[in-house]
Amino acid sequence: MPRLHRQNYYDIERIIEFDFVRATEAAALNSLRWLGRGDKEAADAAACDAMRGMFDLMNICGEVVIGEGIKDEAPGIFKGEQLGTWIPGSPPFDIAIDPIDGTTNISKGAPNSISCIAAASPEEGVKVALRDVPSFYMMKLSYGPRVIQYTQKRGDALQLEAPIAETLAIVARALEKRVQDVTVMMLDRPRHKEIVEEIRAAGASLRMIGDGDIAAAMAPSLPESNVDLYMGIGGSPEAVLAAAGIKCLGGEMQCKMWPRDEKERKRLVADGYEKDLDRVFFADDLANGKNIIFCATGISDSALLRGVKGQGTKATTHSILMRAKSKTVRFIRATHDLQTKTIRLRSDQREHII
Ligand code: FBP
Repeated sequence: MPRLHRQNYYDIERIIEFDFVRATEAAALNSLRWLGRGDKEAADAAACDAMRGMFDLMNICGEVVIGEGIKDEAPGIFKGEQLGTWIPGSPPFDIAIDPIDGTTNISKGAPNSISCIAAASPEEGVKVALRDVPSFYMMKLSYGPRVIQYTQKRGDALQLEAPIAETLAIVARALEKRVQDVTVMMLDRPRHKEIVEEIRAAGASLRMIGDGDIAAAMAPSLPESNVDLYMGIGGSPEAVLAAAGIKCLGGEMQCKMWPRDEKERKRLVADGYEKDLDRVFFADDLANGKNIIFCATGISDSALLRGVKGQGTKATTHSILMRAKSKTVRFIRATHDLQTKTIRLRSDQREHII
């Protein structure tokens, strides 16, 4: 009997997207045993091992275009790594990955850590889907669809560098609340001292987080998060991952490179990024095109997702899975039977009971 020709799927992300969420689920489940154990490298290594193991089962040609920040010399997945089987003919994907955003949170047993992937397949007219921003940090401002609708009606938009009181007043009007009821999320860092003072002077309410600003930047785009605005300086790779998610949720993010010191600024200029230093990047500039998948799984509770819940021999994971093209937002609550479920690890290329 003649063999059937290989199917060419019309929309490959629709088929493959569930395997991406399997990868973030595996990373979350495999890193969970490090929650509160004071060893963030071990947690990160466990998440990376499980992610790579899941990718080893995926017939894709995946290339990491944005990996983990190199700040901690973590045992992470870095730019340039190939993921997937790379069997000839498999669909290509550019991948931005953060096996754990909030490794310090995990080591402390604190909330606000997720595992996260954005992936883009080639698209006509899109040169670079997931932009690898050369600065270590970016100044960020993100807000949800209601704020966008309000400012569009007025014929303007929020401005990243506008006085904070002005931004808060616009957001309050857009959300039909008083400024003192506007909730702003921000990383708790000394570099935010002045912004914090301005927010407090304007009377808005602050929610400071220890780490993990992908979930935090996405929160204003989810009405049930009770976060209205995300502001502050955080990692550039995290900005791109958040931009991919925010775009799928119909929100917006504005970012600008924030060199840490004169030395970094000079390096950026020498590397040819002088013009980009003054540029405000919107979500679409960081995550460009429609062929983008975003998924994340909660490890510990955040404004975006609940963390992994264990109950006897079962564990429940909470994930979000979206595509920029359809803007379908799937929340996936999965119950894993820990007596039967296995996770494939790259380290020994075998399935493991967790
Ligand atoms: P890690 O999980 O890689 O440690 O990153 C956590 C994080 O809080 C990010 O979410 C954030 O963008 C960045 O670190 C902020 O960097 P810093 O800790 O240097 O202020």
